[in-house]
Amino acid sequence: MPILVTGAAGFIGSHVCLRLIERGDEVIGVDNLNDYYDPMLKKARLARLVGKREFAFRELDIADPMALAESVSGQTIKKVVHLAAQAGVRHSLENPRAYIRANINGHLEILEFCRACPGFEHLVYASSSSVYGGNRKVPFSEADPVDHPVSLYAATKKSDELMSHAYAHLFGVAQTGLRFFTVYGPWGRPDMAYWIFTQAMLEDKPIRVFNNGDMWRDFTYIDDVVDAVVAMLDKAPSAEAPPHRIYNVGNNRPARLGDFIDTLEKLLEVKADRQFEPMQAGDVTRTYADMTLLERDFGFRPRTSLEVGLGKFVDWYRSEWTTRSVAL
Ligand SMILES: NC(=O)c1ccc[n+]([C@@H]2O[C@H](COP(=O)([O-])OP(=O)(O)OC[C@H]3O[C@@H](n4cnc5c(N)ncnc54)[C@H](O)[C@@H]3O)[C@@H](O)[C@H]2O)c1
Repeated sequence: MPILVTGAAGFIGSHVCLRLIERGDEVIGVDNLNDYYDPMLKKARLARLVGKREFAFRELDIADPMALAESVSGQTIKKVVHLAAQAGVRHSLENPRAYIRANINGHLEILEFCRACPGFEHLVYASSSSVYGGNRKVPFSEADPVDHPVSLYAATKKSDELMSHAYAHLFGVAQTGLRFFTVYGPWGRPDMAYWIFTQAMLEDKPIRVFNNGDMWRDFTYIDDVVDAVVAMLDKAPSAEAPPHRIYNVGNNRPARLGDFIDTLEKLLEVKADRQFEPMQAGDVTRTYADMTLLERDFGFRPRTSLEVGLGKFVDWYRSEWTTRSVAL
């Protein structure tokens, strides 16, 4: 019985598909391959999946009513990993409608799809650490109030959690929402700081460092995130009423942006040209996950240190991505 993965050509989605296939699951991956960032990267990620017997890809927009139902054409789906979204905090200041379409209308269509699947077991969906907004109490805990988003992106992710709660309550759709904290690694996202810095430093260009580098982030390595997603997919909430849980998926060890850049300098053996700029609208100074809940329920602990994970990203970027970009 196939597992449906949305955002299959995305950073996290492509890694999740690969892991599910490796452990013997059949996967139907969907994605609209939009151009928020270079679709060639999305196609290159897909190329690692397409051709595998257990994988089928459908290009579609999850916000189109009926598109999902038509794409699975009569196959029974009992598990969905929903990772398709309009991501990125800063872009939501410029293109707000993309967030409403993908993250609100799209999330609704996923819920409707799951609700209509006979014997449906579990929807695991992506929320974000952004929901914590400007909260000052750290580490961020799932029990903290999250009623003050500081970007439209965060507002859509919090709305997703509320919509999911309602569908769990009304229709018994079992769900787990994951608040990811800055995920990074090979095949990552070119709009994120670790990629932008690496590219700029290798091209001898300056990097923009906000708030004097005094920003703290829980950087979470992709393999750790995939471990958590797959472990949770296998364990739907059942005892809870309604059957809906939310977990932080972070690293529990926040790194200061300035120290992060120091690490990158060592790995790349390049001195960064740091241009210090004030804090950006919609950004928050510190995100740091309380991981007690995930550890308690799943025994989950992130395994990868920033030095090791960043090293793997840098190796991939240098040996695989830049050579591939030149060849494209
Ligand atoms: N990467 C992170 O640090 C991070 C942090 C917090 C939350 N998240 C969330 O995790 C999920 C995955 O993030 P990612 O980093 O892999 O992002 P990504 O942008 O690489 O992947 C998202 C994918 O969804 C697809 N998509 C967008 N709108 C769609 C639509 N309407 N129909 C079909 N496909 C659509 C995109 O083409 C893309 O391939 C997202 O929900 C994101 O908001 C990510």
